[in-house]
Amino acid sequence: MQTSLSDKTYVVTGGTAGIGLAVVEQLAERGAWTIVIARSAERCRAMEDEIRYLYPGARLSSIVADLSLQSEVRRAAGEVGRLLSDAGLDGLDGLVNNAGTFTYWLALTKEGFETQWAVNHLAPFLLTRQLLPWLQRAATARVVTVSSGSHYTGRLNWDDIQLRRRYNGLAAYDRSKLANVLFTIELNRRLGPGSGLRAFAADPGLVKTDIGFKGTPPLVRWVWQRRRAGGISPAESARGIVYLLTEPSIQQANEPYWKHGQPKAPSPRSRDRQAARRLWDLSESMCGLSPLPYPDESIAEEGEPHVVAA
Ligand SMILES: NC(=O)c1ccc[n+]([C@@H]2O[C@H](COP(=O)([O-])OP(=O)(O)OC[C@H]3O[C@@H](n4cnc5c(N)ncnc54)[C@H](OP(=O)(O)O)[C@@H]3O)[C@@H](O)[C@H]2O)c1
Repeated sequence: MQTSLSDKTYVVTGGTAGIGLAVVEQLAERGAWTIVIARSAERCRAMEDEIRYLYPGARLSSIVADLSLQSEVRRAAGEVGRLLSDAGLDGLDGLVNNAGTFTYWLALTKEGFETQWAVNHLAPFLLTRQLLPWLQRAATARVVTVSSGSHYTGRLNWDDIQLRRRYNGLAAYDRSKLANVLFTIELNRRLGPGSGLRAFAADPGLVKTDIGFKGTPPLVRWVWQRRRAGGISPAESARGIVYLLTEPSIQQANEPYWKHGQPKAPSPRSRDRQAARRLWDLSESMCGLSPLPYPDESIAEEGEPHVVAA
């Protein structure tokens, strides 16, 4: 019997399909109020209908926003704040940065960023920053960012971080997923060991979703059709993410990267402290945010992640 989450409120991005939809279902089953941010009003309605059919009375809200655009991320964060205030809440118990995309060809957003960089890295960074005051007011809270085993092959090319000069879709995806782990580790470092807010990066495994079919050329769709056949179900993958979001016993856990409810060693490149700091500063500047002061070095030291054997 799982504990009830009826006094909890979570935000889940990309909750209209795949892993995110399964996360929302599992949270609804346990009575949480879940605020979904996704890009299609129609798919938000379908998600709400499906979940209310399964769990009548499920507490769900939808915010329609294209997370490839920072203006939309900011608007969505403002709407989350309004929903929480209207409900008389002071804090938010967790955020799941799940929305993600794969773009085979170089595509720039209307704001001029490479699309995978914008959706997979800048949106989680900016949304987390915008919701930080709410998360920090909760007694304890979590930020779970859905990364990938692809981060092991990811590299950051500081001269061309968005790969705009030499684009390769897979390299751009891997790089964005490496950025998710660097961001998670740096967020914990900056929050310090005494914080009630904990960040985790989740490796969801290989999952049977439609991610490789969206806006991709036939060859990619053919490859993904075969590759995902060996994957697990979204529901199975979502259990590990919901665990990171809700499990009280890991509140003080120092391991930043988890797969299916178990800590796992992230790549050596994701543990590069200088790279994490540089990426944080660069992301702040790309999002037009004023810098969060870097914590006292000794506090940051105490907040160093523990890394388990692979
Ligand atoms: N599937 C895997 O094997 C696998 C492996 C490792 C990591 N991941 C990661 O897991 C996460 C979820 O992926 P998935 O496989 O579940 O993919 P999915 O089935 O395609 O679901 C992705 C979700 O993100 C939403 N989304 C995409 N772009 C968006 C945007 N610009 N603005 C707002 N929402 C947007 C999608 O909305 P729509 O419903 O409108 O498309 C959908 O709700 C991603 O971060 C992905 O990188 C997946």
